[in-house]
Parts: sequence; C-alpha cells; structure tokens
Amino acid sequence: MSDNKPWPQAGRERLIVPQPVGTYGTDLPDLRAEMLGKVDAAHVLMMGDNPALPRMPEKPTLQDFFNLRMNESTRRHLLESAKRAKDDGRNDKVVLACMLHDITNACLIRTDHGYWGSQLIAPYVDEEVAWAVKYHQALRYTPDPAVNYEYPELYLQLFGDDYEPPAYIKRDAEYAMQHKWYMTSRYITLYDIYFFDELDTPVGIGEFDDIIARNFRQPEEGLGFDDSPSSHMWRTMIWPNNFL
Ligand SMILES: [Fe+2]
Ligand SMILES: [Fe+2]
Repeated sequence: MSDNKPWPQAGRERLIVPQPVGTYGTDLPDLRAEMLGKVDAAHVLMMGDNPALPRMPEKPTLQDFFNLRMNESTRRHLLESAKRAKDDGRNDKVVLACMLHDITNACLIRTDHGYWGSQLIAPYVDEEVAWAVKYHQALRYTPDPAVNYEYPELYLQLFGDDYEPPAYIKRDAEYAMQHKWYMTSRYITLYDIYFFDELDTPVGIGEFDDIIARNFRQPEEGLGFDDSPSSHMWRTMIWPNNFL
C-alpha cells in the first residue's frame, strides 16, 4: 500500500477464523478451537485491516467496493449485465439493478443473495431497485414465455435436472410476476449473462459513474460508517476476517 498507516495488532501473528456459515457441513476444518488454543502474547485473533487485502479508504464509496473487494468474475458479471442493459437503452433503475443484482456473491454471501443484496443496498437506492434485486433470485427459476425468458440451461447443469426450487422461491416469483415493478426485476434475469458469454471489451465501473451519481446515495461518512440498517454488512466486506 502507498499509505504509511500501520497495520493493526502490530508485532503479533494475527489468526483468521473463517466465518461459520461458510464452513458448516463441509470438509473444511473447524479452525475456531484450534485458533483460540493458539492465542498467547504472540498470537491474536485478527481484527481490522488485513494486509492480504487492498486497504479500503476511510470513507468508501460503491466504486471502492467494486474495485477493491469484489472477486473478478462477479465484478465482470455485474458490469457486463449493466452494460447490456444500458446499451439496450434501459432506464437508470434497470441499469443500476443489473449492476447490483449479485453484489453479495462478489464479497459477502451467495446463499439467498437476492434477499441479502436487496437489504444491503436498500438505504441507498430507489425502493424499486432494491425490490428488483430481491425478486430476481426467484424470477431466475421461473420461465415467462411472454418475455422470452426460459429456465436457465446452466441451472440444469449446476443443480441437476431434477432440482425443484423451494416453496418460498415459487411463492415470491408468483408475487413478483403480479407486481407493478415486475419488469424491472425481470430485466435483471434477461441481462443475467454468464462469464463465458462475456463482452469483447472489458467494462469498468467508471462507465457507470454518472448513473451511480444520479441513483446511489453515497453516504458522507462512507459506506459502512453511516449507521444505516445495512452499515454492518458493508463493514463485514471491509473487514471480512474480523473474529467479532
Ligand atoms: Fe443472481
Ligand atoms: Fe447474475
């Protein structure tokens, strides 16, 4: 890093315990007991900036999360979805919804990502955008021949051809299809194109600076520090390795 700020917990080895939700039910070892057993004068549990990750600015913006926290494939997926929507002349809300639809997959959590993502962005975007992000998850499983949307071929491979979405997904899709904002969410699924169909020219977040400026309320204190209902979720992405 170019700044001279010292890293926290200097002079001791900083131990990282993976978040429980990512390890339960897997073969990954439960490191909690092992790491706690190692704590002594020379070893502490990590709290604060991790030098293995790019340091976030003190007042992070949405663009900083795109540039410094997201995994490459999800960032590309989001930007390319938004670019396709923009090139098709869709309105700002649709473009922004496409740009943010899988935001939690990039650096927070995949499970129920539409619901998490919607809550994450709700304090900063128009209600319609947060609504569209929430329901895109259920609509993704739900064909609508009237708008040429079919069940994704890829899901047959990813989940098996006998996978049945749970009742809450069916319920939420049915509800969304009757809603006045249905098409805003449906557009997300229509522009939800995977990395192997990527565009020839890479898209940067700068392409959308004007749309973000018009439609995303960047808090003065920075995302994570403005005491909104989702500030803690942004902070978790800033410090994903904090023990508490
Ligand atoms: Fe999604
Ligand atoms: Fe997606």
